[in-house]
Amino acid sequence: MPRSTNALDVLRRDHKKVLTLFHRFEKTEDEGEQRELCDEIVSELKTHAEIEEEVFYPWLREATAREDLFEEASIEHQTTKDLLARLEEEQAGTPRFHAMVKVLGEYVAHHVKEEEGEIFPQVEKTGVDLDALGQELEERRAGGPGVDGAASAAPSGKAEIRASRQAERAVSADDVAQEVADQAAGEDAADQPGDAQAALADSDDFAAAPSVEDDDRYLEEHAEGLSRSTRHAKWIHTPEDEPDHDGQTLATRNPEVIRRWAEARGARPATTPGGDAERPRVLRFDFPDYDKGLQEVSWEAWLGTFDERELTFVFQERQKAGNQSNFFLLDSPEREEG
Ligand SMILES: [Fe+2]
Ligand SMILES: [Fe+2]
Repeated sequence: MPRSTNALDVLRRDHKKVLTLFHRFEKTEDEGEQRELCDEIVSELKTHAEIEEEVFYPWLREATAREDLFEEASIEHQTTKDLLARLEEEQAGTPRFHAMVKVLGEYVAHHVKEEEGEIFPQVEKTGVDLDALGQELEERRAGGPGVDGAASAAPSGKAEIRASRQAERAVSADDVAQEVADQAAGEDAADQPGDAQAALADSDDFAAAPSVEDDDRYLEEHAEGLSRSTRHAKWIHTPEDEPDHDGQTLATRNPEVIRRWAEARGARPATTPGGDAERPRVLRFDFPDYDKGLQEVSWEAWLGTFDERELTFVFQERQKAGNQSNFFLLDSPEREEG
């Protein structure tokens, strides 16, 4: 039977594999075998954490209104990595080594239980194309998206994870700053309905489409802050650009491309419930048939925030099998400080 590419099955398989390794560790008395199992646990956990942090968590954050789940999972990953680093320094066979593997095993089991019990049901509710998301996960695991056709060199795992985390942190800091600005500007901004309506009436009025040179400059400038998906995707600069093949990961900053993609899927621009509809802080899409209680916003407002936050729209047109894909995520470049 072919292995399922459903994202949740992909992650569940990883979970099961690593928990089995912990179990085998507990069962054996052989020191050499324990060391081997421990090495395997370390490598499995690192790869698993990487694909979650690179693809799954950023997507989760954008697609669900559950920032709390995202934050909790991210903190647990950090704790797991701290334990892993300490374990790697420990000599096999000592009581301390045993205790550390045991504690790590208990901690990972707890994290897995939360992911499968709390996060996965939220993911299912979003109506995301789970096969496309799973494919994205497997491509990250393989070390590259295979978009360029070039064999990718061994990924510098740590650097990539760091880059991704910086991007996530940058989003948080940016979000907070934006929220503060929103609150401060709240009353002033609210009394401009005339302008907003004028903008609405003129659909060509939103941010000008970036040129190929603009996109190249953006990529160069933010090489460190953007996720690997974004850097390796095929860039779509205009509505005329086409993917090279089905299942290809694409990226764009062109408003018209984004709008056409959403409209072809009946998706409406939206933000989280209770958010500022004029200047939405969080961007979502409201797909038909999936009631997430999202608040619809105008395309001008959606694209205004997209432009202001210098986001990139990472997406697919079609899945590998050729059917339409709803897969997308928004990537935010690292913010330079000072
Ligand atoms: Fe995780
Ligand atoms: Fe996981």
